[in-house]
Amino acid sequence: MRIALSGATGFLGRHLIDRLCADGHSIALLSRRPVTGLPSAVETYLWNPPKVEAPPQAFDGADAIIHLAGATVNQRWTKDSKELLRSSRIDSTRSLVQSLSTLSRSPPLFLSASATGFYGDRGDEVLTESSSAGDNFLASLSVDWEKEATLARALGVKVQLLRTGVVLGLGGGALPSMLPVFRLGIGGKLGSGQQWMSWIHVEDWVGAVLRLLQEDLPSGPYNLTAPEPCRSEEFTRLLGKVLHRPAFLPVPEFALKLLFGEMSTVILGSQRVIPEALLKSGYEFRYRGLESGLRSLLQ
Ligand SMILES: NC(=O)c1ccc[n+]([C@@H]2O[C@H](COP(=O)([O-])OP(=O)(O)OC[C@H]3O[C@@H](n4cnc5c(N)ncnc54)[C@H](OP(=O)(O)O)[C@@H]3O)[C@@H](O)[C@H]2O)c1
Repeated sequence: MRIALSGATGFLGRHLIDRLCADGHSIALLSRRPVTGLPSAVETYLWNPPKVEAPPQAFDGADAIIHLAGATVNQRWTKDSKELLRSSRIDSTRSLVQSLSTLSRSPPLFLSASATGFYGDRGDEVLTESSSAGDNFLASLSVDWEKEATLARALGVKVQLLRTGVVLGLGGGALPSMLPVFRLGIGGKLGSGQQWMSWIHVEDWVGAVLRLLQEDLPSGPYNLTAPEPCRSEEFTRLLGKVLHRPAFLPVPEFALKLLFGEMSTVILGSQRVIPEALLKSGYEFRYRGLESGLRSLLQ
């Protein structure tokens, strides 16, 4: 397959490129900057909406587009950074769909990143793809982001929404930022620790994306999370166990709020998400439980 890929220089994009190239696919990489040192199966195209639109050649003969671009949420949320979080996702998606509408032949499949943040903060409620959206900042961002992506359906494009949970892997995402504290033995539960965390191993994230790429699955949102979400305190306990370090020093909720401001909702919010659509599709998770997932990465 030939795949146009945005956000490919990031944590998930790099993992995806490795696997796509290993499987013999070719990639048109859309980036805001020139990228070097890539496998020969990757061609780079400059794209920085709204300043630089994607050149139509990037989509020539493409079988699919995977859109992962977006500014990192791991920063203090100010008025300006919140605007950037929204525009880098919503405006970039709008720009991609606009580019598709000018093509004589649009790629038939569009996989657009989204996040389990869609569901907001939901306590112990079990959340599937048919659950309603939440009502906080990340939820409204995800709703608007998905809305822009689904407009591509009017062009006859199949749209799959990748509602991704906390991806565990090395070289990016949440895990590496926690490791130094836990390796020093001064980690511990975050806030009450009762909030649910919906995680997925990076290998399963890539596996799920490949399945959506290669199988003719029903169009819609797909929760990209492991089948066994855990409470946050279980996560910190298992992280300490796998690292053979104590993890008894709790970080109280007020300290997290003071340190991270509104961004603390990412850590303190509760989402008990089940990947119902993926499981229905027959996808077999390599890492269903957290302990085996952490061990594969850290030992
Ligand atoms: N990692 C997770 O646990 C997780 C969880 C839920 C959802 N997601 C979503 O999945 C997508 C990929 O995640 P990731 O962890 O790979 O992210 P990442 O490492 O932060 O990479 C995102 C990529 O987006 C592009 N980008 C960064 N800032 C941008 C901006 N201001 N405007 C336009 N593009 C920008 C960059 O590509 P270029 O520099 O090449 O343009 C960057 O490499 C994101 O949309 C993220 O929200 C990730």
